[in-house]
Amino acid sequence: MIGIAIDGPAGAGKSYLARTVAKRLGYIYVDTGALYRTIGLSMVRRGIAPADAETVVKALDGLHVSLDYAEDGEQHVFLNGEDVSTAIRMPEISMAASAVSAIPEVRAFLLDIQRNMAKTHNVVMDGRDIGTVILPDAKVKIFLSASEHARAKRRYLELTEKGVKTTLEAVEAEMKSRDHNDSTRKVAPAIPAVDAVMLDNSELDREGTVEAALAIIAEKLA
Ligand code: DC
Repeated sequence: MIGIAIDGPAGAGKSYLARTVAKRLGYIYVDTGALYRTIGLSMVRRGIAPADAETVVKALDGLHVSLDYAEDGEQHVFLNGEDVSTAIRMPEISMAASAVSAIPEVRAFLLDIQRNMAKTHNVVMDGRDIGTVILPDAKVKIFLSASEHARAKRRYLELTEKGVKTTLEAVEAEMKSRDHNDSTRKVAPAIPAVDAVMLDNSELDREGTVEAALAIIAEKLA
């Protein structure tokens, strides 16, 4: 099986890139952030502070997270059988996901589901630690990034298009704080693998990013 890892900070366009590349190659797209978001959502719904490691870990007991794919190839994520794919996209769930993702037991809880997908399918997997921890032997590792301002602007447009009321300043502040959490945590920090190819798309549009990534992939798989 072939694994392609796409890691990087929030708002770099990982999910569009990974989804598009997967479609072009006929691979399965695995959005691993959705798994952390599902744990975050579960804690918020139960009134548990996502940074309260002890209580979060206890609450993992009996919790069931699974992935499935619709006919159009779109990934759906389930929390105890309920499709929460839309609920996990609420902005307040981003911070909750980031907080629970710093807890080692949460990362261990989600390890098998990610590795099993890659054992049974060719995958394009996006996240923060795919190239470093989840698929250290991935044939292709791309670390996608862009300037903070470019990323905040993209995320802001994405949210306003969805009808979420916010400001560019609020989005930028939230993103900065989340990236800081994600890249400085003790376990599986969001840093490039030593063998990752760095791709900065501050000056590229979506299609330009896809073309650049496909060129890297073609070279690595040749
Ligand atoms: O990719 P995303 O924004 O949906 O991810 C939400 C949070 O989940 C992110 O802030 C950090 C965490 N995450 C992680 O720690 N490891 C991953 N492989 C994917 C996401």
